[in-house]
Amino acid sequence: MKIAVIGVGYVGLVTSACFAKLGHTVIGADNDKNKIAKLNAGGIPIFEPGLEEIVSDGVKHGRLTFTSNAKEAIKKSDVVFICVGTPPRPDGSADLSSVEKVAKWAAEVMTSYKLIIEKSTVPVKTGEWVKHTIRKNIKRNIPFDVASNPEFLREGTAIYDFLNPDRIVFGVDSEKAKKVLLELYKDIDAPKLVTNINTAELIKHASNSFLSMKISFINAISRICEKAGADVTKIAEGMGYDKRIARAFLNAGPGFGGFCFPKDVSAFIHIADQLGYDFHLLKSVERVNEEQKMFVVEKVVAAIGAVRGKKIGVLGLAFKPNTDDTRFSPALEIVKMLLKQGAEISAYDPEGMENARKSLKGLKTGSDEYAVMKRADALLILTDWEEFRNLDLPRIKKLLKKPVVVDARNLYDPAKMKKAGFKYYSIGR
Ligand code: UGA
Repeated sequence: MKIAVIGVGYVGLVTSACFAKLGHTVIGADNDKNKIAKLNAGGIPIFEPGLEEIVSDGVKHGRLTFTSNAKEAIKKSDVVFICVGTPPRPDGSADLSSVEKVAKWAAEVMTSYKLIIEKSTVPVKTGEWVKHTIRKNIKRNIPFDVASNPEFLREGTAIYDFLNPDRIVFGVDSEKAKKVLLELYKDIDAPKLVTNINTAELIKHASNSFLSMKISFINAISRICEKAGADVTKIAEGMGYDKRIARAFLNAGPGFGGFCFPKDVSAFIHIADQLGYDFHLLKSVERVNEEQKMFVVEKVVAAIGAVRGKKIGVLGLAFKPNTDDTRFSPALEIVKMLLKQGAEISAYDPEGMENARKSLKGLKTGSDEYAVMKRADALLILTDWEEFRNLDLPRIKKLLKKPVVVDARNLYDPAKMKKAGFKYYSIGR
């Protein structure tokens, strides 16, 4: 099938490359000319394990091309995936101006049937509005369909998630749209759930909000654990054996971040509000998440006293491991709070330093894990990169001014750290 993917950000680029891998012909379009130039030259604009290989493979076999002319891409395709950004507006609602643009372009260039599919996370009823926008702007009476096919991939494991999903959701209102979608995904073995468009849109917001709720729940439990002298990791394990609960997404930490959860939770609160429901449960999820970041800062202060003039070595800036993404990263927000209180920060992240420095001008970074610890008053771990799990403890002890470690990701065993001579602080243990 000929596919246009409009917007080659995280989801769009992975979608383009994976559909090309599945044998379809894909044109990825983006208005960022630099990004397109980089892609056409064989590079990729983001860090995602395995992505570069499948992009270059698709390009090499002529199944994947990139353009900055979205209208051309739409014109040449039978199926159009909308993968543009839906960033948060100041009031928390989703900004749909880019989605609207794609709908108008589709209306403008359509000469025969096309299926327009939303993959970006959008508020419920956006499909109806996209349909209305196309109908209003289309010149002739050309048949088309709109469908919702939300994406559930995670950054860092994006390709695996796309090709091995737990489920695929098709929100459709015609048999034809359903047939096209089933054909597109025929080589992916996963439960395929067909619903109406509004339901599919809600499944995405409900899923991300539920996962965010799990994280805030365990973070709230971590606070109780500290007051009660209990261990949150054991609680997660004990709860996780119950198949109805499941262990995933019960890791206490500095709060959830990234470009999806924070924005989707606040958009969902907004959507519910507009539909006449006060989603107070989700408001609490958001509140616990904000408090958790401040709690990490308080922990540092409890460990070394007021931070003004003190040097803190920070490990982790990305919002999670295996990505260079620092958008809405709790690590970066915590670093900002510490800097505001007068701390001297030196930070290291395997992939996220460039992005962190872009959004936090003047941020001091080190060349590796150990470089940031030299003569520091404390070491603060904020992202759960695998390489931070097996650090050379005697070396850290020698490098630090005082042997203080605040581990906001619970990467180390408290008993072992104590034995190694550290004053060790973690979350909920
Ligand atoms: C999330 C969802 O997991 C994907 O299914 C979804 O497709 C994606 O959003 C999206 O809407 O595009 P992602 O943002 O890549 O994926 O990251 P996650 O792995 O879900 O992690 C989100 C945040 O939660 C991170 O800050 C992570 O550190 C935190 N987290 C996760 C915890 O604090 N504890 C956990 O137990 C799990």
